[in-house]
Amino acid sequence: MRSALRCFITCCALSSLALAQTKPATPAVTLAATPPMGWNSWNWFAGKVTDKDIRQAADLMVSSGMRDAGYMYVNIDDTWEGQRDANGVLHSNGKFPDMKALAAYVHSRGLKLGIYSSPGPKTCAGYEGSYGHEQQDADLYASWGVDFLKYDLCSFSRNIGKAAPGDEQKQNEMMRAAYVKMHEALLKTGRPIVYSLCQYGDDAVWQWGAQVGGNMWRTTGDINPNFDRISLIGRKQAGLSKYSGPGHWNDPDMLEVGNGKLSLDENRSHMGMWAMLAAPLLAGNNLSMLTPETNAILTNREIIAIDQDPLGREATRIFAEEPVEIWARPLANGDVALAVFNFGGDVTFLRGIRMHLREAGAANGWKARDVWARKDLGRINDKHKFTLPGHGSLVLRLSR
Ligand code: GLA
Repeated sequence: MRSALRCFITCCALSSLALAQTKPATPAVTLAATPPMGWNSWNWFAGKVTDKDIRQAADLMVSSGMRDAGYMYVNIDDTWEGQRDANGVLHSNGKFPDMKALAAYVHSRGLKLGIYSSPGPKTCAGYEGSYGHEQQDADLYASWGVDFLKYDLCSFSRNIGKAAPGDEQKQNEMMRAAYVKMHEALLKTGRPIVYSLCQYGDDAVWQWGAQVGGNMWRTTGDINPNFDRISLIGRKQAGLSKYSGPGHWNDPDMLEVGNGKLSLDENRSHMGMWAMLAAPLLAGNNLSMLTPETNAILTNREIIAIDQDPLGREATRIFAEEPVEIWARPLANGDVALAVFNFGGDVTFLRGIRMHLREAGAANGWKARDVWARKDLGRINDKHKFTLPGHGSLVLRLSR
């Protein structure tokens, strides 16, 4: 009996060892292991962006300290595309005389270059898309030294990928297939290129974005520099956290920090919310007009550390009662990030609001660090009292 038991234990141990040896190791995530950080031309320059603007953005990312804070990708959005030649090879237009030289310049600044295309025949701004030339375009990007591709649905669903009226399933299948096609083309180049899906959150992309090879996928329509729009997008991310993680991120769109007439509190709430959401941080402002205030927001190391936390767990909403919401996320070292947002326009005295420490994964008596004030608050409890201005927020890093 005893020997039978011993055999059972040994056999189990041996077979699980054999299993462990034959099971392929999960490959380590190397591409977009944390949410990609960088800058993108669209929010400020839109269709006017030129080679000179991209070089200047790269220079300013270095001199402003943004590169050293983690902003790595310099992304050219729509309107760089020219015409295809007789062999189908796409050329950049007159605003971008030499893409290879531009990539080399960006790389020489210790940065990476991003580019933009569409699975349709035309991009959103009406320029040449990649339809029918996917591999050719992927090879071209790789030959230039491109490191990031934003692939924007645009005209695809209006013509090429248009199924019979009412056949939504077919339409969605065609869209997914178009994203797979470019993913495979990128893989074939052998160059690591971050793949950013842009189709505005259609067909619950968070449920399948990673399967079609996406390293990130837009979860919403376009952002603009208006706090109502920014906060609406942020709040709509509730429930999506389980879909994102190292290598594949929900993307609530690029940052508007420093654009429009956003106030200090609004810019901080925007940045803080995106960090809680483990969102890609792609600044979208004119870096030649970067103020010390905007720079301090974009390069706040403690906020960035929350966004870039290696555990990669996006925050969940743990409390919502107009106009206040509390979001929390666990961090790799056992700390917890907790953020309270006042989405209302008025000053709110939050005396009656419980901090929800336990729901956040912390507890009464944990130490709190105010990330924007860069101040240790000592040990706090659920009755911690504070005041938030309209559109303001409090971001705490809590530790045992
Ligand atoms: C769409 C995208 C934007 C931008 C423009 C460019 O609207 O959502 O982010 O890329 O196209 O035309």
